[in-house]
Amino acid sequence: MAKDKIIARIAGLGSGFPDQELTNFDLEKIVDTSDQWISERTGIRARRKLKDNENNSDIAAKAALSALEQAKLNPMDIDLVIACTNSPDRWMPSLAATVQAKVGINNGAAAYDIITACAGWMVGLEVAASFVKSGQYKNVLVIGSEALSRFLNWQDRTTCVLFGDGAGASVVSAGSPGDPGEILALKVRSDGRYGDILDLPAGGSASPLSQKVLEEKSNFIRMNGQEIYKHAVRSMVSVCKEILESQNLSIDDIDWLVPHQANIRIIDAVGQKLKVPSEKVALNVHKYGNTSAATVPTCFDEYARDGRIKRGQLVLMTTFGGGLTWAGGLVRW
Ligand code: UT7
Repeated sequence: MAKDKIIARIAGLGSGFPDQELTNFDLEKIVDTSDQWISERTGIRARRKLKDNENNSDIAAKAALSALEQAKLNPMDIDLVIACTNSPDRWMPSLAATVQAKVGINNGAAAYDIITACAGWMVGLEVAASFVKSGQYKNVLVIGSEALSRFLNWQDRTTCVLFGDGAGASVVSAGSPGDPGEILALKVRSDGRYGDILDLPAGGSASPLSQKVLEEKSNFIRMNGQEIYKHAVRSMVSVCKEILESQNLSIDDIDWLVPHQANIRIIDAVGQKLKVPSEKVALNVHKYGNTSAATVPTCFDEYARDGRIKRGQLVLMTTFGGGLTWAGGLVRW
């Protein structure tokens, strides 16, 4: 195959969630909140939480195996594993290397992590697609997986009700133009000036774990919700417009919008500004909350598996998170 004819395609998608469910009513017993507040302000009704004996790598491996099965590939066919996460099992080794061993990719494939919060999976997708198109790798496993329940202050109602644990995986493979799952466009954007409005201040090298950190609870996620909300809507709308323009498409050409699942009000605002009818917008935020890097791949996977997203349809994806980092992408499923 001539080098310029190689395209990158999503050959398989998979999801992995912990079994343990935490409903809004469960949270009412933990913090001063209500099902009504959470449902009305966010659309979230439940989320999943890892049990003490489960880890991020367990759900990531589950998602990876499911994506490999859909792609009809064996673990040893994978040339590179990219794990996109802000909540790895450990800071060393990488989550990717841990999952590589769990899945049985024992062929010396490269494995490394990407840390770009909620935008992670789409950033990984861009890296994978570039490698595949260049001919460097044939099959890349891209996983977006989070164990954010381990980085939440369960006494802080402004954050602990929002997030959940979950993993989405994809196999990005080399193909020919027109193959199913072709990745038509991807754009990743960042603006580090606003890093402080959604952060995890301690536990890194600038502020290693200490008694003071534990007392101040600065080893947990902090967020200025309203600021993030504004940036999220603006950024996702603008990157989606960039994607459509780059492909000479109008919003009417799009069959589905798969947006980051943080808050139903943000999703509705993005849909309205882009003029996407609500029946074309994929949702799983009500069931899983904000699973950060896992929201887009798990939502895409669910809708594609149950046949709502059909082969040949155009799927516009967008995401936004800490960094700030955001992204847009277009796939012909
Ligand atoms: O994935 C990364 C991107 N993250 C996001 O996109 C999240 C973006 N932000 C949001 O989704 C929303 O800003 C939130 C859901 C976080 C908050 O919704 P909001 O409508 O912006 O509420 P607010 O922060 O203005 O808070 C309104 C009130 C406050 O009380 P007062 O000051 O009006 O008395 C809060 O203290 O709601 C209170 N509140 C709660 N009440 C019950 C905050 N959290 C809760 C809670 N239960 N869990």
